[in-house]
Amino acid sequence: MPPRWLYDDLGSALFESICQLPWYRITRSERALIEAHGADVFDALDGPLEIVELGGGNGEKLDLLLDAAARRHRDVSVRLIDISQAALDAARARLEARANPPRVHLTRGPYEASLASLAGAAGSRLMLFLGSNIGNFDPPEARALLRGLAQAAGGGGAVLLGVDLVKPDADLLLAYDDPLQVTAAFNRNLLTRMNRDLGANFPLDAFAHRAVWSRHASRVEMRLVATAASDVTIPAAGVSARFEPGDFIWTESSYKYTPGRIEALAAKVGLDIGRQWIDPAAGFALSLLLPRGR
Ligand code: AVJ
Repeated sequence: MPPRWLYDDLGSALFESICQLPWYRITRSERALIEAHGADVFDALDGPLEIVELGGGNGEKLDLLLDAAARRHRDVSVRLIDISQAALDAARARLEARANPPRVHLTRGPYEASLASLAGAAGSRLMLFLGSNIGNFDPPEARALLRGLAQAAGGGGAVLLGVDLVKPDADLLLAYDDPLQVTAAFNRNLLTRMNRDLGANFPLDAFAHRAVWSRHASRVEMRLVATAASDVTIPAAGVSARFEPGDFIWTESSYKYTPGRIEALAAKVGLDIGRQWIDPAAGFALSLLLPRGR
């Protein structure tokens, strides 16, 4: 299933709880990298600045980056693109509480369509794609999306990309199958959603959360595995299906990269790594990507 459906209001709240789990380090690691190096991001950008963030959730990292931007740029505007209205509202409230609030535009929708509707940049444009959100995309889609980000950034802009790195199996599994079972709730909330929004009749107790690390595909797969037989109909989707124990719904892929694969992905869409900051303990990389030759 497209992972975007994980983020209704409850799903967005559960994801924010995941970010506080000791086993899920992406958010804390990225925040620390932004706090340490955020100012360096703006060395590469001149003039009036537009920051566009895709899938930024509650806007916390953008808030930190704006602190850094304020030291160089006087004229800053912000555009937030997210699938979750709750996330957009929270981010706007956070930005409007700043001492010097930027102009804020909200676009609620999926990434691809929202990117396509962006006009050309007036000054320089910084595209933010943080939190390893790129990990949700299979390689061809990841490439297409990064190409869209590069085009939106334009010749004078940049893309700031946060990517989770390949790490030991045990660390990956704990991050996606946590002992408090918050990730399980996040995943199983999809069943609640289908029952509520699509009139489906999934028996919640007949499906279990599972995370599987596929080393050859370099991704963690989240699954909802049937633990009992059930007959399910999803009226609004025109779907009916019988699940036998062991059958599963594949709800999310979370691809993990190496620094070399980040560079290769960027190169395919005409971007070079301008700067790259790595947190080796958490296994996380923040990369400032610039149009080739700049
Ligand atoms: C928000 C897509 C980066 O893949 O790590 C967290 C979502 N899924 N736990 C990720 C998620 C399970 C997260 N992203």
